[in-house]
Amino acid sequence: MEILLYLTFALFCWPIVTCNDEQSLEPGAEGFLKREHTLVRPFQGTVLVYAELWDFTGSTIVTGTHIRLTPDHQSKAGAIWNRIPCMLRNWEVLIHFKVHGNGVDLYGDGFAFWLTKGRNEMGKVFGSKDPFSGLAIFFDTYSNQNGEHAHVHPYVSAVVNNGSMSYDHDYDGTHIQIAGCSAPFRGREHDTFASIRFVNNRLTAKLDIDGNGEWRQCFDADEVFLPLGYFFGISAATGDLADNHDILTFKVFELPADETSDISDTALLNLVPHAKTAEAPRDKPVGVFQRKSMSTIFMFLILLIVCGGIVFFLVKRQQTNAKKRFY
Ligand SMILES: *[C@@H]1O[C@H](CO)[C@@H](O)[C@H](O)[C@H]1NC(C)=O
Repeated sequence: MEILLYLTFALFCWPIVTCNDEQSLEPGAEGFLKREHTLVRPFQGTVLVYAELWDFTGSTIVTGTHIRLTPDHQSKAGAIWNRIPCMLRNWEVLIHFKVHGNGVDLYGDGFAFWLTKGRNEMGKVFGSKDPFSGLAIFFDTYSNQNGEHAHVHPYVSAVVNNGSMSYDHDYDGTHIQIAGCSAPFRGREHDTFASIRFVNNRLTAKLDIDGNGEWRQCFDADEVFLPLGYFFGISAATGDLADNHDILTFKVFELPADETSDISDTALLNLVPHAKTAEAPRDKPVGVFQRKSMSTIFMFLILLIVCGGIVFFLVKRQQTNAKKRFY
């Protein structure tokens, strides 16, 4: 009888509990690696090769295993900038990164991924120039502005700028953000990865930060317009608070287009970066991560009740049967 109960649970409940609604393709699975935009280990010994393709600026140091943009010290800024302009219409960037340090509650500031018109200029936005023209994705570990906006840090957010808007770091730049999510990527024991995709003017970010090899969506923004001929880069900065900001791999893939486009390369080279899905200022619901895990917990509770019900029913019947036999 006990075995029957377990079987019932296994047959009816387990497949539902473990069911995964995410069925999109694994990041990096279907593209062509573009070596001219890529940085992979080992870095030492290949420094001369990489020096043709990349600039290593500011506090950046290159070791055999990682590129450290900033050490865990105050007031540092470092960056890596690709020298080859990106001529890909549809691409994916895969970043293996590690943000860590001695700080337990106080650490910062984070790092930024860039695809911009200018390159290799130091400044106050995570160590890079402000304002910028192009795309930035901020991996912000420190909330500079407590109170008005409700999202939990660390926070990942995308900004598209045409070069006219200044990024307000004291307000975490939320007034020009197009999408974002809360994501605890800092100080993890395991490897942490980000995948950023741009296909047919759709910008999506996925994160693999829980050490279980699973990608979770951070944001998905449609109608994002980015020109050709911009440069990839990553920068990081520390202020009063510090952290090690390490890049272990930076890979760029060319992706096939979902649909053909009749816009010429010339038109795309002259495009002004813009995005239609700009979020209303200060309208910050809880990040996707929280919402998703809340619904997962809710689903789990319902299943627990259903399974509990089945088990209760079976036990009850067993007792009744036992009683019948007894008498
Ligand atoms: C740049 O963006 C700002 C703010 O959205 C807008 O007012 C301005 O017209 C834009 N400039 C160009 C050249 O598109």
